Amino acid sequence: MPQDAALSLYLHVPFCDRLCFYGGCNTSVVRRDSSYRAYARRLIAEIERVAAAIGRRGRACAVHWGGGTPTILPADQLIEIMARLRALFAFERNAEIAIEIDPTSLKADRLAALREMGVTRMSLGVQDLDPAVQAAIGRRQAYEETQACARAARALGAHSLNLDLIYGLPLQSVDSVTRTARQALQLGADRVAVFGYAHVPWMKKHQAVTSEESLPGASARFEQARAIHRVLVQEGGYVAIGLDHYARPSDAMAKAAAAAKLRPGFQGYTTDDAPVLLGFGAARGYMI
Ligand SMILES: C[S@@+](CC[C@H](N)C(=O)[O-])C[C@H]1O[C@@H](n2cnc3c(N)ncnc32)[C@H](O)[C@@H]1O
Ligand code: SF4
Repeated sequence: MPQDAALSLYLHVPFCDRLCFYGGCNTSVVRRDSSYRAYARRLIAEIERVAAAIGRRGRACAVHWGGGTPTILPADQLIEIMARLRALFAFERNAEIAIEIDPTSLKADRLAALREMGVTRMSLGVQDLDPAVQAAIGRRQAYEETQACARAARALGAHSLNLDLIYGLPLQSVDSVTRTARQALQLGADRVAVFGYAHVPWMKKHQAVTSEESLPGASARFEQARAIHRVLVQEGGYVAIGLDHYARPSDAMAKAAAAAKLRPGFQGYTTDDAPVLLGFGAARGYMI
């Protein structure tokens, strides 16, 4: 690794307070505070080991907290982990600190912690806003709940807001995903990721509660993806990036795409130019 290489840091928190039926995530249900704290201690120990192995204060230009649900960790632990990162790595002034958020479980003290951590980009899981679809995927999430979370993210000073949507879920139709995409527009996100549902019950046993027959076929999935695309691009003015990402023209991702500077990331694309990604926690991490 070159001495002055910029670093992108990924932290994985593999816990949720429930499993969504569609979830293909690297996570499990854990509801014990002692487990969260034990994991946070190990995460810090791993960060310290890696920082020591580098043998200098690496230059960090981006941090991504993924999961699972990272904000399930106690507020004081989130703050402490971020503080250790800042102590052990030299953060660039404009470093992006991004975190994935489940609006249905975000507590007020975690919001305060996100401010203290200096989070700059929040990614909210939305998936679908139709109550019947939500019942079918085991995730009840009122539009108002998501809207409150989006407003709180802005109030915290997050300069960038991302939403995740999914098509290809049970009971979805072109009409229902069109309605969801239009509601998503009202949330004013800078970026929207639109994932095709990956049904892999042989790997994720809990997905077996969803029968194959209840899922839209390939052409219906394609039409749903096209319907969301139409709403985001034609009605919302978003720029389509690759297969599944959309960004406002003013967003760094759209600008990087226009300048052919966008690079593949672990869940889509990244605008950082770090040649090295360091992964921490119980998930696949790798060094290039
Ligand atoms: C690791 S999850 C974290 C999100 C956060 N815990 C939440 O629930 O809002 C990131 C995103 O992966 C997507 N995702 C999860 N399971 C998926 C699947 N089986 N197929 C496609 N996308 C999936 C969802 O859009 C989700 O918001
Ligand atoms: S979508 Fe979020 S809350 Fe649902 S199982 Fe995946 S990580 Fe957990």
